[in-house]
Amino acid sequence: MIRIDAVTKRYPDGTVAVDRLSLEIPDRAITVLVGPSGCGKTTTLRMINRMVEPSEGSILLDGQDIRQQPVNTLRRSMGYVIQNAGLFQHRTILDNIATVPRLLGWSKQKARERAAELMERVGLDTALAKRYPYQLSGGQQQRVGVARALAADPPVLLMDEPFSAVDPIVRKGLQDELLRIQDELGKTIVFVTHDIDEAIKLGTMVAVLRTGGRLAQFAPPAELLSAPADPFVEDFLGADRGIRRLSFFPSAELELQTAPVVAIDAGAEKLASRGAAPYLLVTDVDGRPLGWGAPDDLTAGEIDRDRLLPYGRPFVPGTDSLRTALDGAVLSPTGWAVAVDGEGRAVGVVSQQVIGEAVRAAHTAGRPDAKAAR
Ligand SMILES: Nc1ncnc2c1ncn2[C@@H]1O[C@H](COP(=O)(O)OP(=O)(O)OP(=O)(O)O)[C@@H](O)[C@H]1O
Ligand SMILES: [Mg+2]
Repeated sequence: MIRIDAVTKRYPDGTVAVDRLSLEIPDRAITVLVGPSGCGKTTTLRMINRMVEPSEGSILLDGQDIRQQPVNTLRRSMGYVIQNAGLFQHRTILDNIATVPRLLGWSKQKARERAAELMERVGLDTALAKRYPYQLSGGQQQRVGVARALAADPPVLLMDEPFSAVDPIVRKGLQDELLRIQDELGKTIVFVTHDIDEAIKLGTMVAVLRTGGRLAQFAPPAELLSAPADPFVEDFLGADRGIRRLSFFPSAELELQTAPVVAIDAGAEKLASRGAAPYLLVTDVDGRPLGWGAPDDLTAGEIDRDRLLPYGRPFVPGTDSLRTALDGAVLSPTGWAVAVDGEGRAVGVVSQQVIGEAVRAAHTAGRPDAKAAR
């Protein structure tokens, strides 16, 4: 565990970048430092690998003051990723990634094998190995930066706004990739961003800093959303915090109805037996949703798929959150959300009202379930 203990950083010109900061950074989890520009995020990160020395206080790694070990040993245990990746422009992608293993004395062959393995791990085609950084897109360069930081398999990864220079779609891909890699590798990651949505998506724990380098709140993201410590944190979180918090609650427990689901080739008897549902969800013969129709408008053998109402965005009960389910219901003109399995086949429908009850239960429940539902 990394423990930041009452750390203050005063730069020579008198600027207090970090002010009596204390944080316990859990092992094998992602801890995000978030806050407005100039609030001391980078300074804090750099104090962890001693690129910056604290003016007061101490930082402990597994109980030992980081000043007690040689700075090179410390840095080798901590991969470092920055915005724009900071790659060596005159080295190929493969050699960029192999940098630290080579410094550690690995043979060229072994270091390159390791680099190739990491390219795959971060989602880069190994066909890019011989290119130079300028021949890669920004998102690809950022992946190289992550691969390079992971090359010597350090237990700790320090990441300073690694994804902020890429467009939102590439950024989402990089975030998803980081979560996937983290599930596999279980690193202790300290991640800096000024984007609160990124913090909420990635963080197991989130430290919100305010200008002047003071800690405003340190909590799991769902708790930030439900109980911001003060107006600064509330304001920083922005709008829709109630809705956003629903991403931390699973949709698996929603009670689904199957009676209103009918296949397009359903016979008259089947259609008639569908009871009092205001709308029926019509599926193709494989069970994939096509759209909604009012029972009176549906004639057996003559269901016209072009005249059905759109069914919005379906959710997958096992993996999607309550937020996705609610979104599905809101997007559907009938007010009902469609649940599908992993193959996209309808497994039931659920009304806005039932989702609303689950939402109320979620708000009164203490802690949300899991980080799994994003
Ligand atoms: N070498 C330095 N000398 C003097 N002041 C500095 C130095 N480095 C940073 N600062 C100041 O310390 C404060 C915190 O800087 P820091 O870079 O840690 O902020 P940050 O939260 O990372 O900001 P950003 O989101 O813009 O990257 C700022 O006021 C900055 O101007
Ligand atoms: Mg910074």
